[in-house]
Amino acid sequence: MPDDAPLQRRKLFIKSFGCQMNAYDAQRMADMLRPEGYEQAQTAQDADLIVLNTCHIRERATEKVYSELGMLREMKDQRSMTANPLRVAVAGCVAQAEGAEIFRRTDLVDLVVGPQSYHHLPQQLRDVARGQRVIETEFPVDDKFAHLAAPQPDAIARRGLSAFVTVQEGCDKFCSFCVVPYTRGMEVSRPLAAIVAEVERLAQHGVREITLLGQNVNAWHGLAADGRKIGLAEVLARLADISGILRLRYTTSHPLDMDAGLIAAHRDLPQLMPFLHLPVQSGSDAVLKAMNRRHTSADYLDLVTRLRQARPDIALSSDFIVGFPGESEADFAATLALVEAVRFASTFFFKYSARPGTPGADLPDQVPEDVKIERLARLQQLVEAQRHAFNASMIGKSLPVLFEKPGRHAGQVTGKSPFMQPVHVEASPSTIGQQFDVIITSTSTNSLFGHIAAPSKLPD
Ligand code: 5AD
Ligand code: SF4
Repeated sequence: MPDDAPLQRRKLFIKSFGCQMNAYDAQRMADMLRPEGYEQAQTAQDADLIVLNTCHIRERATEKVYSELGMLREMKDQRSMTANPLRVAVAGCVAQAEGAEIFRRTDLVDLVVGPQSYHHLPQQLRDVARGQRVIETEFPVDDKFAHLAAPQPDAIARRGLSAFVTVQEGCDKFCSFCVVPYTRGMEVSRPLAAIVAEVERLAQHGVREITLLGQNVNAWHGLAADGRKIGLAEVLARLADISGILRLRYTTSHPLDMDAGLIAAHRDLPQLMPFLHLPVQSGSDAVLKAMNRRHTSADYLDLVTRLRQARPDIALSSDFIVGFPGESEADFAATLALVEAVRFASTFFFKYSARPGTPGADLPDQVPEDVKIERLARLQQLVEAQRHAFNASMIGKSLPVLFEKPGRHAGQVTGKSPFMQPVHVEASPSTIGQQFDVIITSTSTNSLFGHIAAPSKLPD
């Protein structure tokens, strides 16, 4: 199609797997393709373009993508001879890792695009419309953040009250189990001025909560306006000054990059929410060493102590991998002991899966599947008990809640606590967009319930 052809209305379906970075990328892809005439389809069946936004981090990820693709075969074939063929794109980390291999293994895919190349999607799809198969998985050498061009106001409006802002991409920690350094590339930080400009725009359009995103977000480094070298703490302090921004968060962090300035930010910035996702992966020093985490379990516990000194009510969450090669029963017991010592508010836990190309995959002493399953169950039991205890400890407390949307029942509004818990309250819809103190009266498995503490401050 020539570039000046009238806009053709088409439907886009993005199926996203994996992390928040992928969820955010899906949003940006949709934003970028809207001016090209792509509207969101409700189901894959309605779509003219299906994008599989893939994740490579765990368990047979690549095979899952090929089986997802296989399921599109019938739809693709049925429409192949029509004027409106179905186009299929593979994006995300499997696209990055597999590259041209995807074209060799299946004829179903029209476009393979890595996460650093989404800003070229409109052009790539025009090439696809001309019948080409297109692949782009290079890491750009010039502007690694070109794909994060400022969103349009209508796209911002769709973000609602809470928005993600990418500030850092990639990772060069090389944990021995992890594919991210290979699929997302080396660590790069987005310049402060670009971050501030994006957050200012979001705030002007009604966004009240910002979550700074990065695979290794607290490794962010850059320069202040006066040329001083600064870290994430200074970014947060600068963003806290922006009018309208009530809440700041950041994810995901590595313990090694939790410097004194960032810990102090949790003490000094009221907008910085007292909730931190700080993966530790294991409580055994031998396993941490084999994972190339470069800290001990005592280092992590010391960090938790310092965070709690700075912000006594800070709630922590973590990721754990069970069954890393060589993990003995004693190593696993050390993980349980660390969980007992820290008391996490929420936790993600995974069975180790050998990722081809990572050092962990070649280690001897891979742990048998049945042992992994049994350990995972024990860990799950402990962290679930901690999560329930954490939620129950909220009863009787007064928490600031940012109301985001109408609740499921009439007369109810739903918001989020500082600790990421959904909170449901009987209140007027006019509370949406504002923060009120809520007295928590009860909990369910995943949510809190309560009533607004200061009705005198309620809007009419
Ligand atoms: N096997 C199991 N879990 C993994 N993770 C990353 N790589 C692997 C792997 N090979 C988990 C880690 C990480 C989270 C995002 O996914 O716990 O923190
Ligand atoms: Fe992967 Fe996180 Fe380790 Fe980086 S720090 S290699 S993203 S687990």
